[in-house]
Amino acid sequence: MSKTGVVYVCQQCGWKSLKWAGRCGGCGEWDSTVEEIIAPSGSGSSSVAFRRELPQPITSVQLTECPCIETGMREFDRILGGGLIHGSAVLIGGTPGIGKSTLLLQVCQYISQKGYTTLYVTGEESVAQTKLRAERLSILSDNLLVVSETNLDFILENIHNTRPTLVVIDSIQMIYKPQLDSAPGTVAQVRQCANDLISIAKSTGSAIFLVGHVTKQGIIAGPKVLEHMADTVLYFEGEKFQCYRILRVVKNRFGSTDEIGIFEMRKNGLQPVDNPSEIFISQGRRISAGSTIISCMEGTRALLVEIQALVARANFGMPERKVSGVDYNRVSMILAILEKRIELKLGGQDVFVNIVGGVQVDEPAADLGIAMTIASSLKEKAIPPDTVFVGEVGLGGEVRSVSQMEIRLKEAHRLGFKRAVIPKDNAKGISKDVGIELVEVCYLSEAIEIMG
Ligand code: TYD
Ligand code: MG
Repeated sequence: MSKTGVVYVCQQCGWKSLKWAGRCGGCGEWDSTVEEIIAPSGSGSSSVAFRRELPQPITSVQLTECPCIETGMREFDRILGGGLIHGSAVLIGGTPGIGKSTLLLQVCQYISQKGYTTLYVTGEESVAQTKLRAERLSILSDNLLVVSETNLDFILENIHNTRPTLVVIDSIQMIYKPQLDSAPGTVAQVRQCANDLISIAKSTGSAIFLVGHVTKQGIIAGPKVLEHMADTVLYFEGEKFQCYRILRVVKNRFGSTDEIGIFEMRKNGLQPVDNPSEIFISQGRRISAGSTIISCMEGTRALLVEIQALVARANFGMPERKVSGVDYNRVSMILAILEKRIELKLGGQDVFVNIVGGVQVDEPAADLGIAMTIASSLKEKAIPPDTVFVGEVGLGGEVRSVSQMEIRLKEAHRLGFKRAVIPKDNAKGISKDVGIELVEVCYLSEAIEIMG
C-alpha cells in the first residue's frame, strides 16, 4: 500500500477492512475495529539496521560457547527447555497481579548476579516502584539496569548502548513507536514494536522477555501474529487469592510444549514448588467415597492428582452434570460406559466431578480414575487410599494401555502409594524395581470389583 489512507483494524484478531464495521468479519467480535492510518511504505520501516546475511554451509555455522544460561530457578529452566537461549524471544501472558513482573525481576536478579547485564524496561511502573519490589525480593545488583520508558526508539537505543544479556519489556502493550499514528496497545503498535524488539534481540544476541496482557477470553491481547513471532509463549495461570501459580508452555521452539511449572507466591517472591504432587492431593485426606488418586503426565513429569466426584439423586428435571479440571465430553462418555457396561444406574443422578487444586487434566489416562471415582460415590464405597489408578477406558468397557507408565508408577511409589491399578497390556514392559504392587486389569468391571 503506497497511498496514505485509513484502514479499520480489529483489536482482537487483526482483521482489516477499508470501511468501518460494527462486527469484525474475522472473529465476530462486536465494536472491536479501530481506525488506523496507513503510512506510505517506507516511513514506518524498522529503525533496526538491516543486516544482510549470506548463506553458508551448516557445518561452518559458529555456535556461541554456551547456547543457554541457567536462570537459577530450576522450575523455570525446565519450562524454557534447559535455560535462557541467547537471542530468543519469550512472550509471557497472564492476568494482572498474577506475578509476571515478580517472576521476571527474580530471573533478572539471578542472571545479573552471575555477572551478566540485564535491562528491565518498565512501562507500567516507575523505577522507584520497581526498586521497592526489588528490595522485597532482595535484589541488589549493579548489573541489573532499570528504565521507565515507553518510547520504542529510546528502548532500542538503550539496548544498543548497554548490550544486555537479557531484556525484559513490561509490558508490550505500553510501548509505542512514535512514527505510527495509532495509540499504544493497538494491533499496529503491538505488532511493529514486538517486531523491532525481536529483531534487535536476534541481531545483538540478547534474550528478550515480552510481558503481554490478556483479554477477557484469557488470550494475549493484540494480534495473533505476536505469538507467531515469539520463540516461546508462556501463560501464567492461577487463582489470584490462592498462593499457587502454574506457568504453562503453549509454544516452544527449544523444548516441549506440554510442560508446566508450579510456583508458590510468598512474601519474598515466587518460589518453585519442589513436590507438586503433594499440593494436588488434599491435606489430611480421609478415607471417603468419591475420591481417587491418579498419576498423570504433565510434560516430562508425572503428577499425582486427586479426582473427586459427587453423585446425588436429581430432585427435579434433567439431572445436572458439572465438571471442572477434566473434559466434559470425556466425563459424559465415561458415564455412558458405566451405565451400559457396568449397569450402574446413573440416569437420574446429578454428577459433579472435580480435580483438586485447580489443575487441568486432559489425557485419556485419567479415564479409569474418573470412572472409579464416580462408581465409588454412587455405591458409597471408599477406594483404598494407598492405591493409584492409571488407564484409558474404551467404549467397550476395556481398559487400554497408556504411555510412560514407569514414570507414573515411580512418582506414585515416591509418594508412598502401595498399589497401582493399571491396564494389563502395560504391565509387560514394567521393570520389577518400581517398588509398587501392580494390579492388572483388562476390563473396567475388574477394577470396580476392587472396591468390593
Ligand atoms: P505482579 O508481579 O505485580 O503481577 P503482574 O505483573 O502479573 O501484574 O504481582 C503482584 C502480586 O504479587 C501482588 O498481589 C503482590 C504479590 N506479591 C507477593 O505476594 N510477594 C512478593 O514478594 C511480591 C513482589 C508480590
Ligand atoms: Mg506487572
